[in-house]
Amino acid sequence: RPRVLSGIQPTADSFHLGNYLGALREWVRLQRTHETYYCVVDLHAITVEHDPELLRERTRRSAAQLLALGVDPEHGALFVQSQVPEHAQLSWVLECQTGFGEAGRMTQFKDKAAKQGTERASVGLFTYPVLQAADILLYQADAVPVGEDQRQHLELSRNLAQRFNNRFGRTFTVPEAHIPQDTAKIYDLQEPTAKMSKSASSVNGLIELLDDPKRSAKKIRSAVTDTGREIVYDPEGKPGVANLLTIYSALSGRSVADLEAAYAGKGYGDLKKDLAEVLIEFVTPVRERVRSYLDDVAELDKLLTRGAERAREIATATLATVYERVGFLRRV
Ligand code: TYM
Repeated sequence: RPRVLSGIQPTADSFHLGNYLGALREWVRLQRTHETYYCVVDLHAITVEHDPELLRERTRRSAAQLLALGVDPEHGALFVQSQVPEHAQLSWVLECQTGFGEAGRMTQFKDKAAKQGTERASVGLFTYPVLQAADILLYQADAVPVGEDQRQHLELSRNLAQRFNNRFGRTFTVPEAHIPQDTAKIYDLQEPTAKMSKSASSVNGLIELLDDPKRSAKKIRSAVTDTGREIVYDPEGKPGVANLLTIYSALSGRSVADLEAAYAGKGYGDLKKDLAEVLIEFVTPVRERVRSYLDDVAELDKLLTRGAERAREIATATLATVYERVGFLRRV
């Protein structure tokens, strides 16, 4: 079976609809055809200022959400990145293969560093994409399910794999980005030309899976649209309506064309009201399952430890080969 790896940061109390439709839905689907390795990337989460207790709590909440959304811990592995030390170890080796200028061209780094001021931004924020490459290459992943915003990081991972293979002999699988066609980028409900993100300017633009469903429904009903009245999929001319149609289609399984036909002659209010209901139906059982996983933290921690053990079986083998190839002395 081809192998998949992906990760998500435990940097918020809840995942949002962009995370789910851009990536996590594919994580679950790929379990049918691939051997899957999924991790909560807590090492990445400390590249910006954080609170230790909150990080621990959010790491558990992230794992609980992945389980609630359908990630199967008996399939491949579900684990926490810091529990597999090989990620940090491989990252160091790859950092030494990465150009300073090359890392400096990563747009997410530039954006985040600009927000914090370059003087205050951590070196970890700079090397973040190399750690991400280590996550992927450690498992010899063939495919990496992510949203559109990770495309450049995936390109770096591919380049590093190829570069290492050329210099030291074939060691890594060169991974492919697996980016969904229709839901690669979910937009902010209040600012439908910006991606939905936890750092959005208005909380009303962001749908969080664990939020009170009534509040989420209200956010859908107050989503920004346009002054027209036709419900057609036109991302250029009607980005707000197009985003709602994308979300509606993904959550309901109905095609956009089908929705356009169904809403011909109806108003934006009808579309929003129905989508709000579809959303409530989706999030309600997810929230309940998350709650039950978090009811037994001891069991959850055990499950994650087992996942890390399984992940390490592969990670240690790859790292041993890498250490050998770069010329480190083997312990005897
Ligand atoms: P993160 O934690 O920011 O986001 C997790 C996933 O959600 C996707 N995503 C979106 N997709 C569509 N529309 C949106 N508005 C939207 N917002 C977020 C992201 O593309 C991502 O797939 N660097 C990664 C975490 C990471 C990783 C990895 C991913 C670390 N190591 C190895 C893959 C493989 C990140 O910050 O994702």
